[in-house]
Amino acid sequence: MNSPSFPTTRMRRLRQNPALRKLVQETRLDPHDFILPLFVRGGKELRTPIGSMPGHFQLSLDEFSREIEAISSLGLGGVLLFGIPGKKDATGSESYREDGIVQQAVRAAKCVNPEMLVITDVCFCEYTDHGHCGAIVERNEHYEVDNDATLKLLGKQAVSHAEAGADVIAPSGMMDGMIQAIRGSLDQMGFQHLAIMSYAAKYASAFYGPFREAAESTPQFGDRRGYQMDPAANVDQALREVALDLAEGADLIMVKPALAYLDVIRNVRVEFPGVPLAAYNVSGEYSMVKAAAAQGWIDERATALEMLLAMKRAGASILISYWAKDVANWVE
Ligand code: PBG
Repeated sequence: MNSPSFPTTRMRRLRQNPALRKLVQETRLDPHDFILPLFVRGGKELRTPIGSMPGHFQLSLDEFSREIEAISSLGLGGVLLFGIPGKKDATGSESYREDGIVQQAVRAAKCVNPEMLVITDVCFCEYTDHGHCGAIVERNEHYEVDNDATLKLLGKQAVSHAEAGADVIAPSGMMDGMIQAIRGSLDQMGFQHLAIMSYAAKYASAFYGPFREAAESTPQFGDRRGYQMDPAANVDQALREVALDLAEGADLIMVKPALAYLDVIRNVRVEFPGVPLAAYNVSGEYSMVKAAAAQGWIDERATALEMLLAMKRAGASILISYWAKDVANWVE
């Protein structure tokens, strides 16, 4: 670049009023890019507040239907469903029942608004009594998630979501081969058309804390470092995860969390141009801002919009965020 310097060049010329600033900005937030996570549970007329995530609730099916109706006019990209089952067991068998909580919620959402894009999180941590993301085996006197046994169960769960009418299946358990297994099970059952959004680069993160209260999915022993990625791992490892998931048939890719992983988002964007890339603006990122705003220490709207803008600028085309509804009202 050999553009002339000051005083010929003055960067402030294009910053002097809102119209000029708007003309030259390249990153804009659009409600259509946003996915709203929702938590569904059993019971009736329940809108149980999630203490650590003000503005979010565990919704019983009737309340959930009301919520879908209420958000239908906002122009959001879709919803991402998490279920809180009535019963948990060692293999999370509630997760693949035809009348399971998520399966019922998918049907309810489609009944209220057939056009609403419904994505389902496919995982076991909400459904197992031990709170891990798959079946457990004992190996060398310690317990760990059995990868290949979990793959079979993941296929079952994905098919049950497909049968209920989900539009996109989003496996989040970080099992090796999960996309291949789910793709195979879906295809075998006639769901070749159904898209898979892979939580491809998902880190073992402290930022999931509030979610575990929301989804009642805290591991009862140990942690998730044996399957989720190490935050200190080289970015190349994230690229390998993405490449593997794409080779196995993933249609959309996700990086999670978002705020502390903007470098990962950027690198995935550059390395895999053209692949729809979602960033998950996770519970901890939301709760921190909410808590500070409640103290009057930070401006929630400005801070949230700046964070979300950064995720998009880094390269995410889809934003999964607990602020999705707010964004629809904030950006007109
Ligand atoms: C696992 C899952 C988690 C989140 C989404 N899917 C929790 C975990 O891996 O422990 C976290 C989302 C958030 O923090 O907002 N089913």
